[in-house]
Order: sequence, then structure tokens, then C-alpha cells
Amino acid sequence: MPIDGDTVESIYQQMRQKLKGVVPDFELSHKAELILEINRLKEERGALILGHNYMEPALFHSVPDYTGDSLELCRKAALTDKDTIVFCGVRFMAETAKILNPDKTVLLPSPNAGCSLAASITAEDVLKLRQQFPGAPVVSYINTYAEVKAASDVCCTSGNAAQVVESLPGETVIFVPDEYLAKNVARETGKRIVFPAHNTFEINDDENGLEDTIIGWRGRCEVHEKFSVDDIRRVREQFPDVIVLAHPECHPEVVEAADFTGSTSAMTKYVETSQARRYLLLTECSMGDNIAADNPEKEMVRLCSVRCPHMNEITLEDTLDALRYDRYVIEIPEEIRVRARRAVDRMLEIG
Ligand code: 13P
Ligand code: SF4
Repeated sequence: MPIDGDTVESIYQQMRQKLKGVVPDFELSHKAELILEINRLKEERGALILGHNYMEPALFHSVPDYTGDSLELCRKAALTDKDTIVFCGVRFMAETAKILNPDKTVLLPSPNAGCSLAASITAEDVLKLRQQFPGAPVVSYINTYAEVKAASDVCCTSGNAAQVVESLPGETVIFVPDEYLAKNVARETGKRIVFPAHNTFEINDDENGLEDTIIGWRGRCEVHEKFSVDDIRRVREQFPDVIVLAHPECHPEVVEAADFTGSTSAMTKYVETSQARRYLLLTECSMGDNIAADNPEKEMVRLCSVRCPHMNEITLEDTLDALRYDRYVIEIPEEIRVRARRAVDRMLEIG
């Protein structure tokens, strides 16, 4: 729930209580001023603020009306009656909110909040895959831009990828753009996975035909690809009781070596409901801070040398400026939006 308060002092005291041991006090006193002003403008403009689980702790625990993973925020965006949505996340998430709300103003506080996965594929790539594998439905991960969603049949998120693939009739599915998520889904659904050779769109390994096959793409998350099985081994050596959680954008061997895999919210819920004392989160580091603030009795071991540079673009300062100056407005050509919406709606209907 957002932090409420009429004065900087009361906001500061609430933040201090919530984030003690996670964010230094001196930083909170400055942020309390920003939070007061953001809340005032949010009210004045009748805006909704959505915050992804990867937002830095002072932002995550203060201004968003709702926090969550990509799927949960997509659902919140679909349901809101507010005229303005400020998306504290990355561009593909704000685009999804716009796809669902063509008549609302959707603001992304930084123009530089991209995503290595979304940047790894274009709509032309999807069309070439379709030519190469006629009739195979295209599932695009939500971490794609609107043009790619528009060229797809259905979207998925980390929270429902296997369910979406299993819902599709036929034996061959094109799944873009995350190589590791596709491999993890293939393992979960018992399907084979193959990759088109780069730039030629030819399959190297098609001697067995394409029955029960996922056609993947070699996009990667620049954060999750860095975690290794060796990281897990070394942390387990140091903390034998640690429970390891890995996001499904991690390498399949990392996911296999972990105790649990799931979306960012599924990992959060796992920590909240489990009795264990110590956890290693193989995902963006701020989320460990956010969980630590809500679960002070639990210890979060984080590998914080790896941060998402795109999520880190979103600050309280930029969020305030987004509301003050109406920036940065997300625009999607209507013809693309309508087709992208079909793929997003199909996903929302599946689960
Ligand atoms: P979630 O949908 O699990 O929140 O993941 C989004 C993301 O970008 C992970 O890197
Ligand atoms: Fe994209 Fe990876 Fe950052 Fe998520 S963590 S937004 S997948 S670059």
C-alpha cells in the first residue's frame, strides 16, 4: 500500500520504520520530500502509479498504488478507471498498459528504461519465423515491444509461460525471444527445443521433424544470464541452510540447481510463506531489499554485482517529473496497438 502522510516528517517516520536496516536514514529524509509531492500531484491529477517488484526500495514501498510482477501489473492496468497511469517499470510494461488503455495517458518516468530481451527481436524477425514455420503459433514473452506483440498470436509472462504454450493446439510453437525461458518451458512441458541458425532461419537439428517442438530465439536477459551454477555452489558452501530461488530467465542449469523458480511475485510469496531463515535470490538485486523490508526476520543473500540498468533508471525524482511535466508519454500507432491487444487479451483469458 502507498505511504500516506500530510507532512514530510510523518512520511519520513513511516519510511524509517519500514526500511530500517535496508535504506540509510539520511537518504530517506530527502526521499520523504519527493514522496509527499508525488502523492499530492497523483491526487490532483487522478493518476494511478504501478511499481514493478524491481523498483528501488524507497520507491517500491512508498508511491505505487499497486506493486507486482509483469502479469499482475498488466491486470491492474486493464482494470483501472484512472485517466493517467505512471508506470514505474520498463518500456515494454508501460507499452502493455497503453495497449490495454488507448484512451488513457501512460507515462514512463525515464525514456531510457529498455530491456535487453525486448531489444533482441523485431517484428520482421517474427514474420520471417512465420514464413519458415508456416502454421506454427507465435508466443511472445511480455518483454517485447508492441510491434512484436502485434506480430504474435499470444503473449505470456514468466508467471504463465508453460500454461500458454500448453494451451496451444498443434505440435510446433514459436516462442520468442528469451532463449533460457524457452528452454525452461520446454523442460516443464516435455517439449523438444530447437533454434534457427542466426540470420538464416534454418534449423540445425530437424532430422526428427518438428513434433512437440518449441522453436526458440536467442535473446537473453542481461541480468539473469550472469548467474551460474557455481554461484549457487559457493553460496550453499558458505550457508548450507540457504534456499535458492531463481527467475526462469536464468540458464536452465541454474534453474535446475535452485530450490524454486517462478515469477518475481511467486518468489516473493515463496519467501513470505516459507519457514526457512535464509534465501538466495537469483534475480534483480533491489527485489531482495524489498523482500527484506517486509520480512525483517528473514535473511536475503543477494548477488548485487548484477543490477538491471533499465529498472534502475526509474527514480522518485523522475516519477515526480513524470507527473509534473507529463512525461514520457507512451504512444503506439493504433493499427499496431489493436493487433498487439489481441495477443495480450488472449494471454489474459488463458491465465
Ligand atoms: P516478472 O514478470 O517475473 O516480474 O519478470 C519481469 C522481468 O523483467 C524479469 O527480469
Ligand atoms: Fe529486461 Fe532483464 Fe531488466 Fe528484466 S531484468 S527488464 S528482462 S534486462
